[in-house]
Amino acid sequence: MRNKVTVVGSGNVGATGAHWIAAKELADVVLIDILDGVPQGKSLDLLEAMPIEKKDSHVLGTNDYADTANSDIVVITAGVPRKPGMSRDDLLNTNHKIMSDVVSKVVKHSPHCILIIVSNPLDAMAQAAYKLSGFPRERVIGMAGVLDSSRFRTFIADELKVSVENVTAFVLGGHGDTMVPLARYSTVAGIPITELMDAATIERLVQRTRDGGAEIVKYLKTGSAYYAPSAAFTEMVEAILKDKKKILPCAAYLNGEYGIKGLFVGVPCKLGAKGIEQILEIKLTSDEQAALQKSAGAVKELVAVIGV
Ligand code: NAI
Ligand code: 2OP
Repeated sequence: MRNKVTVVGSGNVGATGAHWIAAKELADVVLIDILDGVPQGKSLDLLEAMPIEKKDSHVLGTNDYADTANSDIVVITAGVPRKPGMSRDDLLNTNHKIMSDVVSKVVKHSPHCILIIVSNPLDAMAQAAYKLSGFPRERVIGMAGVLDSSRFRTFIADELKVSVENVTAFVLGGHGDTMVPLARYSTVAGIPITELMDAATIERLVQRTRDGGAEIVKYLKTGSAYYAPSAAFTEMVEAILKDKKKILPCAAYLNGEYGIKGLFVGVPCKLGAKGIEQILEIKLTSDEQAALQKSAGAVKELVAVIGV
């Protein structure tokens, strides 16, 4: 049976993600937006690329949630992105209203889907979607850690002049200035980067990772990153649809793991057909644990503002 993935929001992140999913033939894609014509136009354009790509993915653009019915996965990218000088947190109230509108319609038509949340501020929006949907926590997943870790991996590979394929990295915590890139768990061909770089170099790469979103916003001026973010949620979609049991850093609703309760925070998760099939509790040093708590504290403040 063919899989069906709906992407809500046909802007930069949503449309580019639809592109990755269709080009990899992971599923049929429905692209939905409030803008009349934009999802239809982008979807038709993408569909017309499939003969060249030799892929049979179907792509449909719509403004009608009936077309999204019975999706296996719904990725929510609807919302406003950052402009220079704005933090992700400045988007809180606007995107919360959009999330409230979108989630009820998604759930009505796809009550058994897995939700992947992308809209910012990520952890707070994931928490809002979790509460609004009434879904079990396994089926509401926030995308941030895959992106932040990919940025860290890029900078490590570039610094050491090695293949990106050799580099693994883990960035945990909230998707914000307090995110927690874990150098000890970041490796090149299995060798921890702490063996390969001095502390000052690692700190420079860690800071660039924390500032990774802002670095792109500064260049683009009118929006934020979308190639790497959409590739990141596509990796999560693939892990779920193929039941890969892949360990990826995702924002998950914690129920006491890492000493955090009732909050979405980025942690290592096993993704498979059921969504989050396991949350891995890795050993952290006291400094790492303190950084994770600080990051969770920042998420808690945002969540309190919107009361979710
Ligand atoms: P964009 O402005 O290009 O696209 C957003 C789309 O959402 C627009 O087409 C807009 O019409 C649509 N939209 C707004 N309200 C809607 C509603 N009620 N229903 C359906 N669609 C609606 O923005 P972009 O660059 O695609 O970013 C989208 C969101 O993703 C932003 O909040 C951004 O901050 C976030 N983001 C999160 C990342 C992460 O790591 N979690 C990474 C990159 C972006
Ligand atoms: C990013 O990290 C804006 O959250 C988005 O690029």
